[in-house]
Amino acid sequence: MIKKCLFPAAGYGTRFLPATKAVPKEMLPILTKPLLQYGVEEALSAGITNMAIVTGRGKRAIEDHFDNSFELDMQLSGTSKEFHLKEIKEIIKNSTFTYVRQKQMLGLGHAILTGEPLIENEPFAVILADDLCDCDESGIISQLIKIYNKYKCSVVAIEEVPMYQTSKYGIIAGKLVDETRDTYRVTNMIEKPEPKDAPTNMAIIGRYILTPDIFDILRNTKPSKGGEIQITDALLTQAKQGKVIAYKFKGKRFDCGSIKGYIEATNYFAKHQGIV
Ligand code: UTP
Repeated sequence: MIKKCLFPAAGYGTRFLPATKAVPKEMLPILTKPLLQYGVEEALSAGITNMAIVTGRGKRAIEDHFDNSFELDMQLSGTSKEFHLKEIKEIIKNSTFTYVRQKQMLGLGHAILTGEPLIENEPFAVILADDLCDCDESGIISQLIKIYNKYKCSVVAIEEVPMYQTSKYGIIAGKLVDETRDTYRVTNMIEKPEPKDAPTNMAIIGRYILTPDIFDILRNTKPSKGGEIQITDALLTQAKQGKVIAYKFKGKRFDCGSIKGYIEATNYFAKHQGIV
């Protein structure tokens, strides 16, 4: 059973400077909700109540967001504005939040390793909140948990991207293991390959189920592309043992770590909620 979800949220968010100078990227809103809240809602909808967040300097707004604000509660209680706090208060009531700080931003793999004391020795979900997803039925983490329950190994969510974009993603190669043609046993993984070096156009997006042996592998993973410790390199070690499944998730994803994706997500959600 997957009980915990790790949210690496320590990155600098340089693509959104100066907005992210004092505001964490994960707290940028799509309409009225911060990106991270969408991620926490997705984890909750998959039955996960323990949210483990990797933060860093200048990210205190995250802790304040997922805590009661007695002053606001008092001010709004009994007024017509009280409903604005309803959703977040439900989340706070139904979840436990734990935090650890990444002292140096040495990459996503390092951020996940930093989360080890919060996760300990059990399989866990990972959500990168800047990949914002909208699914018709179950969220991506719910979809991945189903796959995990079948294969009992690490699972990554994948999406086909245009070939010219492979250098923005971890790219996998694999063998189909399911007649529905959406599940692969991963045979190779390359972090941000140029199109000419990419084995496929199947890109890993920010949703994972990881088995806890990933921590020992990460401890022994050297920095690679961009001088960062990459989760893709650690996953490749598991993949070589046949222990990584890639699943083409059902739903829509927005890369809210980029300005273009962020605008697309804002427009999409505004339209779906009848605001524009
Ligand atoms: P990104 O690659 O989007 O990096 O990280 P970033 O720093 O957040 O943004 P840019 O590229 O400078 O604009 C992907 C995810 O990994 C986390 C980020 O917070 C984001 O959720 N991350 C990345 C960490 O937690 N620590 C790191 O050292 C690097």
